[in-house]
Amino acid sequence: MDLRITCIPGDGIGPEIVAEAKKVLDKVAEKYGHQMKYTDILMGGASIDAYGVPLTDEAIATAKAADAVLMGSIGGNTTTSPWYKLPPNLRPEAGLLKIRKALNLFANLRPAYLYEELAGACPLKEEISSQGFDMLIMRELTGGLYFGERKTIEENGVKKAIDTLTYDENEIRRIAIKGFDVAMKRRKKVTSVDKANVLDSSRLWRKVVEEVAKDYPEVTLEHMLVDNCAMQLVKDPAQFDVILTENMFGDILSDEASMVTGSIGMLSSASLNDTKFGLYEPSHGSAPDIAGLDVANPIATILSASMMLRYSFDLDKEADAIDAAVKKVLQDGFRTGDIMSEGCTKVGCKKMGDLIAERII
Ligand code: IPM
Ligand code: MG
Repeated sequence: MDLRITCIPGDGIGPEIVAEAKKVLDKVAEKYGHQMKYTDILMGGASIDAYGVPLTDEAIATAKAADAVLMGSIGGNTTTSPWYKLPPNLRPEAGLLKIRKALNLFANLRPAYLYEELAGACPLKEEISSQGFDMLIMRELTGGLYFGERKTIEENGVKKAIDTLTYDENEIRRIAIKGFDVAMKRRKKVTSVDKANVLDSSRLWRKVVEEVAKDYPEVTLEHMLVDNCAMQLVKDPAQFDVILTENMFGDILSDEASMVTGSIGMLSSASLNDTKFGLYEPSHGSAPDIAGLDVANPIATILSASMMLRYSFDLDKEADAIDAAVKKVLQDGFRTGDIMSEGCTKVGCKKMGDLIAERII
């Protein structure tokens, strides 16, 4: 099969981790008889440096023409990088928001799973971590506060900033359907997270989610307020299967969920629209402080490549091969610095990519 993949190496550690994901994909292609056709585009700071904008229309067109997009990370140090002296709509992150909107990537899947081998890196008490956990955050990605009207004005000499949180029932319905669909392939439980005790948008969210739930009688639905969810994630993470939530809550809760797995360097993500098309990226950022040092953990990007094979190409066997190779490398005791523990062998980014590629069978 021909796999047309647009790659966005991006900024910071992005180029290094994407290179390792390609190495692993190439090994999969060789073993399973596929052809990887990569095209690179610039986004974020790299695009600002080359074109003065964080994402060009040509780059969007290239991405659209592919079957899937594999991304590293974008952005730099927000206090020292000159990119952050630019107006907000020209900064690196604006490129990411623009591609999400342009490709209609409204469903963001962020799995958070505690590997047995990394249980020691989990910051929770042993009595909690020993239970293990395996959850998936289904985050709405093209609505809410991120895309509502915003402005900064001055009224009677007083500066005032306004951000608006808007959701219509169709936006809620389509993400809820994604959440329930994925729950059907997992442990059949959806926790819908909102702030319905305060926000109108959350009250509508709850109502629409309940309507959608009627079509999924096998799935157990529960509602949880976002502040309680933040607490439950560290108190009893094993209770969660699918967490279904809006854009901003999902942004915050997914960082929290990743931290309890021990390392944000392990977490993949997929951003999907209504077709098979998707953008796949690690949940972590560009870590400019360690860029170019060959110490970054490429596993989240490699696991994102696995999600790409599964969701955009229906290549489940190949995706399983990547997931198994990652598990094996951890069992064999290899670790990058962020997940290092006593008795293990510390390796750099490239070596980790090599070791995973070697274990593709
Ligand atoms: C994420 C990131 C982005 C977001 C930033 C970089 C705009 O934090 O993907 O979680 O807030 O969505
Ligand atoms: Mg985030």
